[in-house]
Formats: sequence, C-alpha cells, structure tokens
Amino acid sequence: MHLTPEEHALLAGERGPATQKAMQILATLGRIYGAECMIPVSSVQIAGVSYDNLGEAGLAWLAEMASGGGRAQVFTTLNPAGMDVEDYADLGISEAFAENQRRVLDAFETMGVVTTCSCTPYLFGNLPHFGEHIAWSESSAVCYANAVLGARTNREGGPSALAAALTGRTPAYGYHLDANRRPNVHVQVNARLHDTPDFGALGKSIGDQLQSCGLNRVPYISGIEQASQENLKSFCASIATFGGIALFHMPGITPEAGLHAPPAEQITISQHTLDTAKSSLTNATPDEIDFLSLGCPHLTLREIQHIAHALAGKQVTREFWITTSRPVKGMADRMGYTEIIEAAGAKFATDTCCVVAPIKGRFKALATDSAKACYYAAAKNGFKTRLLSFDDVIAESTR
Ligand code: F3S
Repeated sequence: MHLTPEEHALLAGERGPATQKAMQILATLGRIYGAECMIPVSSVQIAGVSYDNLGEAGLAWLAEMASGGGRAQVFTTLNPAGMDVEDYADLGISEAFAENQRRVLDAFETMGVVTTCSCTPYLFGNLPHFGEHIAWSESSAVCYANAVLGARTNREGGPSALAAALTGRTPAYGYHLDANRRPNVHVQVNARLHDTPDFGALGKSIGDQLQSCGLNRVPYISGIEQASQENLKSFCASIATFGGIALFHMPGITPEAGLHAPPAEQITISQHTLDTAKSSLTNATPDEIDFLSLGCPHLTLREIQHIAHALAGKQVTREFWITTSRPVKGMADRMGYTEIIEAAGAKFATDTCCVVAPIKGRFKALATDSAKACYYAAAKNGFKTRLLSFDDVIAESTR
C-alpha cells in the first residue's frame, strides 16, 4: 500500500504513541483488504461507547489512547452511551455504572471527540454530502449515510473509527470505491408499506434472504413508491441488523440508484413474506408488556412532536422510554414537547437507548415500532417483544 511521507511519519510515531497506534491499525486494515492508499475522511462516528459493552478492557484502551496524545483531526461524534448523561437515575441506572460511563466519555472528550451520543448524527450536524468519504461505525447510520445520503463509508469497528478520527484517514477499500457500490441483486417488493414497522419488516425480509446469498450484497430495491426520513432510518437499521447490509439503492428515493440498471439476479418480497417477518418479531401478549420504547434509531423532532400531541393530557401506565439525541431533545425542550411527554409519565432516555443501556433482567417484554430493537431486546436482554405501529406503541402505553 502506498503511504505518503506524512503517513510514514505518523507510523514512525512522530505525533505520539496514540496516533502511531491509530496509523498501525489503519495500515494493517489496508493491507488485509488490499487498499492501494489512504484517503482523507471528513467526519467520523464511533460506536462502542456504552460501558456495558466496553467493560474495563475497552475503557483502558480508550484511556491509553487519550493519555498517549490522541486528538481527533476531523469532526467526530459518538454512538449512544449506556445512560442518559443527565437523568440516568430516573432510568434506574446505578451510580457505579454512571461513574464508569463518565470515565468513557471523559476519555473521548480528552481526545476532542464531540460527546453527543447518538446513532442519528445526520440529524444534528454530522451530515456528510454526496460522495464525501467518512468513517462511521454504527451499522444503521453507516447504511443511511451510504444509501440515503450517498456518502462513502465502510462499517467501521470502534477501534478503526477512532483510528480514522485521530489521523483523519481511512484505507481506500470497500464502499469507498465505485466498483463496490454497484448493485448485485435486484429485490422486487410486491407489498404495501405504510409505517416504520413495515419498513423494519422489509429490512428483515431482505436481510434474511441476502444473508444466505454471500457477502457484500448491494441490493437494488424496486417497488417502493415513497419513504419518509423516519421510514428510511427504520429500514436502514433493520437491513443492517438482519442482513449486514451497508448500502442499497432504491430508484426514485436514493441518490445513486439512477446510476445503475437493475441486476439480473432477482428476488421478490411478497406481502406474505413481509407479514411473516412482522409477526415473527412478536412473541409477547399485550398483557405481558411492561416496557415500551420509541426511538430506535434515535427519534427525529417530528416524531417527538407526534408523541407529544398523542400523549397530551394522558397518563402512561408502564415504563415508556423516548430515546433521542441531546440536540434534538434540546429542541423538544424549547418547543414544550418534553414538558407534555414528561407530564404524561413517559421518560426521555437521551444519549442512550433500550439496547445499549444495562437493563437486562429488569423487564419481561418490550413493545416498540423498531424491528432492530426487537432483535436486540431478545438477543441481548432476553425480553419478549411486540412489534407495533408507532401510534399503537403510544396507545398501548396508556392502556
Ligand atoms: Fe440506535 Fe440503539 Fe437502535 S444505537 S439504532 S437506538 S439499538
């Protein structure tokens, strides 16, 4: 792999041990994946922020990188942490966990990383434009950036994303290259899609089928007439979770679709397939639900506005988390939505979510509109699940 004199200097440790380690990670990755060179990135998003996932070993590595002089060279934001940084006690998070989570965030802050913790960084300023090279790691955001925004990123791990932040570079392979962005399977959707669980079920249907068809599939998805930002973030989260997909094209909706013709290999998603995927994500009865959550991926302001209107003057009867980013919550505060939602007894879980927070064993069954949240609620926390429409989750919360 060709490295510039500056990159050789970083490898030699001229900018300190943390940057040297970062460059070693990137050079190793570049060699493994056959990259010819490094390319500059304009933004980074780092996953692996919750202390629940990192543990002491992960925290020690971050602290070493911070004390070794590592400093972000480009705009860098974080994925959700294990708690609401301000109101963790209200969510039942212990002081001991909070202390460890703060140590994680302190290490990132020392490195100049913006410690806003969210999987929807594109809603508050970490918004790459078409063709821009970036290094993001949250799978739903990677898919959204590649497919919906037309930016270019591989699905980075936490360490490689941090390495990209500290050097401002990433190896030029995978989805950074035109050749790997071409669609290689045509998905014809013959089903009606209305809301976020429909799009989540579509992501599961396609993801399940493509997972058995080999690696690095880039589906060209026909038959979708329209999709809102909320639909697309739900779809991206789901197709990344169930199929490991990091890029797709949707004619009339995503910006690169027009550059390509539909591939010859075709699969079809019928209404029956979609309905089956949807029902497979529900195994809890209504009476078993003791936890509700909206905001996987993190909510837009429009969604929070909708929740506020629906909950005005009502009282929730069970634990109900509204998960979003701190900047979007700030706008909800200003618009009075927070006051209405909290008066109804629902709780904002800002900076975190129902998957990365340490809540294993606390609840029996989760109701949500998110296919991704259903998957992880079962796989990580052992909860039963109920996939409902956005409005039905709100209605269920006051039943
Ligand atoms: Fe975001 Fe947590 Fe879902 S990180 S995509 S809200 S699992």
